[in-house]
Amino acid sequence: MTTLFDPIKLGPLTCPNRIWMAPLTRGRATREHVPTELMVRYYAQRASAGLIISEATGISVEGSGWPYAGGLWGQEHVQQWRKVTDAVHAAGGRIFAQLWHMGRIVHPSLHGVQPVSASATTAPGSAHTYEGKQPYVEARPLAINEIPRLIGDYVSAACNAIDAGFDGVQLHAANGYLIDQFLRDGSNHRTDAYGGPIENRIRLLREVTQALIDTVGANRTAVRLSPNGDSQGVDDSRQAELFTAAAAMLDALGIVFLELREPGPDGTFGKSDRPPVAPLIRKVFKGRLVLNSDYDFARGQAALAAGAADAIAYGRKFLANPDLPYRFQQGIALNADDQKTWYSQGAEGYITYPAASA
Ligand SMILES: Cc1cc2nc3c(=O)[nH]c(=O)nc-3n(C[C@H](O)[C@H](O)[C@H](O)COP(=O)(O)O)c2cc1C
Repeated sequence: MTTLFDPIKLGPLTCPNRIWMAPLTRGRATREHVPTELMVRYYAQRASAGLIISEATGISVEGSGWPYAGGLWGQEHVQQWRKVTDAVHAAGGRIFAQLWHMGRIVHPSLHGVQPVSASATTAPGSAHTYEGKQPYVEARPLAINEIPRLIGDYVSAACNAIDAGFDGVQLHAANGYLIDQFLRDGSNHRTDAYGGPIENRIRLLREVTQALIDTVGANRTAVRLSPNGDSQGVDDSRQAELFTAAAAMLDALGIVFLELREPGPDGTFGKSDRPPVAPLIRKVFKGRLVLNSDYDFARGQAALAAGAADAIAYGRKFLANPDLPYRFQQGIALNADDQKTWYSQGAEGYITYPAASA
């Protein structure tokens, strides 16, 4: 029976366990989106994860809209991320970069331009900006002749990720950001080859994933989806069919793993009363499947034992417990995360959570 402590092969890597760190935006880079020394320490502290998936990292100015989030479009970004990956590797770890274009979630106050999306839609609620919370603005639909340039931005960020020493890349296609805005019919009203039927709405996901594979290899390309229910106002009328088709397409491309974020009705970071699509996806996606959202040790073990997943991604538990695998193994009580410091600047609530193994 598979357990969380069993190693797992991931392309050229061997992950020593199946307790992975989920991507977590923490807002500790500079205003120019350059990683800081604090980030070097934070990621190195968490190197005992089977795999670290980095915080969402902007592929371009256009796609980057979170204050103090990391970026991967400039040489300064590459140089500082290199310190992060070196420190993780020196501590015995492995790390993928999560590649992020936020689409309509980018507020113009950050870079002075109207956000882009599949269609002219506006996200509900308000954006985190340097001037506090501000209502989202309507996005401009990407013209079809801009898509090659967009794919080029993903490719150049992926090249930069490899130059910076990351072991691979994860395309962020979840949580209501740009790729998700194209996937779902609630936000994609296009009438061209990227809108309408499911095979058209999964086209951008396919083309970007293929471009990443061509750039870094299928062995180093992963994808994250969030199939069940609304994410930042992005939703679909036939989620099971859409995401099963997307997963079958990703299976055919041969990506190294697929991660699914699917909260339940009692979720503590997003909720959904729609059933998870993971059981259907498991049938069509034969590669490594990683599940996330509200997993604890027992639920994680049970999912692996039942054959529902190959690894579990832990978000807030890794945020607050740098030595999560050791704590799980020894049955040591976990630190609770402090929501006030999720996105605050500075060391507090970032590198100050104590390790039991220290
Ligand atoms: C502070 C914080 C930041 C997050 N940032 C990201 C992110 O950058 N990319 C992403 O895909 N998900 C992000 N998420 C979602 C988490 O990866 C994960 O799906 C969520 O925390 C549920 O998992 P958990 O119950 O193990 O914490 C974030 C969640 C939190 C709490």
